[in-house]
Amino acid sequence: MKDLARESISGLPEYIPGKQVEEVVKQYNLKEVIKLASNENPLGASPLAIASINENAKFSYVYPDQRHTILKEALSAKLAVGKENLIIGNGSDEIMLLMAQVFLSAGDEVVLSRNTFSMYEFVTKIMDGTPVFVDLKDYTYDLDGILNAVTDRTKLIFLCNPNNPTGTIFSKERFDAFMSKVPDNVIVVLDEAYGDYSGSDIYPDGLKYVRAGKNLVILKTFSKVYGLAALRIGYGIAKPEIINYLHMAKMPFNVNRIGQFAALAALSDDKFFKESIENNERGKEYLYSELGKMGLKFLKTQANFIYIEFNENSDRIFIDLMKEGVIIRPLKSFGLPNSIRVTVGTMPQNERFIAALKKVVK
Ligand SMILES: Cc1ncc(COP(=O)(O)O)c(C=O)c1O
Repeated sequence: MKDLARESISGLPEYIPGKQVEEVVKQYNLKEVIKLASNENPLGASPLAIASINENAKFSYVYPDQRHTILKEALSAKLAVGKENLIIGNGSDEIMLLMAQVFLSAGDEVVLSRNTFSMYEFVTKIMDGTPVFVDLKDYTYDLDGILNAVTDRTKLIFLCNPNNPTGTIFSKERFDAFMSKVPDNVIVVLDEAYGDYSGSDIYPDGLKYVRAGKNLVILKTFSKVYGLAALRIGYGIAKPEIINYLHMAKMPFNVNRIGQFAALAALSDDKFFKESIENNERGKEYLYSELGKMGLKFLKTQANFIYIEFNENSDRIFIDLMKEGVIIRPLKSFGLPNSIRVTVGTMPQNERFIAALKKVVK
């Protein structure tokens, strides 16, 4: 097959997701396993979304709305942008791929950060683009370094704010300075998958650039605080010229019907949203305090996960925690072999993680 497949595909590394609970239960013969590896919502899915899923199951024979009209109307009202500024994807991952499919030709450069979400590199390589990497600075995106890496071959820049896996953000001030210097022929993709968790006064406002017609695509998802990761719904916000091109390349029925209605219901569930944020805040404080007492190096987070760094390769810690029934994410695949990322769970899950970590860390 090697001679038949496109060269850029055969060279691609496989995406390494968080381990599944069922897999670990079986592998280590355990009764109860908790997963704090994929930054899912530990409170589950919004009850309003679950009711909508049940209600809509009987319409599974109907094709979904390929333009996602009802969901776009709700998002448009919530975000104060036009429906023409929105595209709904099969997860925000799909919109990253669409960006690469629409805008990259072989050899075009894409500026990325190291130690960040791997999908940006993946979609670039799928389309034969050339990733140009810039190191993090103090565990945070180096926006000046990224500007310096832009050449006349650059088509796209991917930014992740808060960054997965460090949980750090770049400020409004730095982002504004960055946007004032990005050349007009480059499109910036601002991935805000964890933006809902930040609540920081200095968190940047990307929407003002979309409203001003700049080349910025903001990505958001229903997979995290809205608790709908399994249904695969994310969205992009950009000026209509960009959105129209993305629509030309997308598959007609990319987002299933149950998902579209569940997202609509989740969006209206303010109570669940608030509880999810509050649970995250409580969990963060508890974990900071316990990790601090253990003398471990960790970063304060603007997201729903915490980055922890050890003096040894974290694969051993990952495996030993798994034997204790706790799945976390080792960060070798993010280029950080001594670090792990743990999702903030419910309080019992956080306590269980800390108890297991105490046993495992020497
Ligand atoms: C930074 C970042 N962006 C996007 C995603 C993917 O979101 P979705 O489930 O909407 O494809 C993730 C998932 O973990 C993520 O960490």
